[in-house]
Amino acid sequence: MTTSSERYGAVAMILHWIMALGILFMLGLGLVMVHGSLDPGIMYRLFQLHKSIGITLLAVALLRVVWRFLHHPPAFPASMSLGEIRLAKLGHALLYMELFFMPLSGWALVSSSVFAIPTVLYGIVPWPDLPFLSISQTGSRSKMLLPCCMPMALMPSLQWWVCI
Ligand code: HEM
Repeated sequence: MTTSSERYGAVAMILHWIMALGILFMLGLGLVMVHGSLDPGIMYRLFQLHKSIGITLLAVALLRVVWRFLHHPPAFPASMSLGEIRLAKLGHALLYMELFFMPLSGWALVSSSVFAIPTVLYGIVPWPDLPFLSISQTGSRSKMLLPCCMPMALMPSLQWWVCI
């Protein structure tokens, strides 16, 4: 099934912009909500909102990958060399990994947190911890997150290096 040989289809573009704007919003929200001077009630609500949107973006990322597999992207310009095409594909693969790594590392963080604050998406849907990290089953494993988060932190610089 193809979208178009020259342009991405409407669904792919909509999913792209939901993810792009969603991640930008989440970066801002994440930085604001950890500000220690906030009123605890407001901070709690911002954390819940952050978790709700983050899990929603995880679902959108899944949808996006499924869509990508079912619809061929536009062909690379004929002027690109094989090496450039390989690097572009590697850049795309790294970006896809990031789409999953950001929400998954957040989910892993709350799952292993000693505070064990429940996640309720949009104040309605109770959301479970990741079972293999949940402290109710395993005790705190926060230290496991460090090796998980390091590749995430390195990814943008790797991408920058790959893409220039
Ligand atoms: C696209 C997805 C996400 C982005 C871009 C994002 C971004 C951020 C940022 C920028 C911070 C502030 C880090 C700091 O300055 O300490 C943060 C913190 C946090 N995020 Fe996310 N996040 C995402 C998804 C999630 C999800 C899905 C969850 C949980 C279900 C989550 C839970 C948290 C928690 C608990 C903190 C506070 C960490 C602390 O107290 O040090 N995040 N996030």
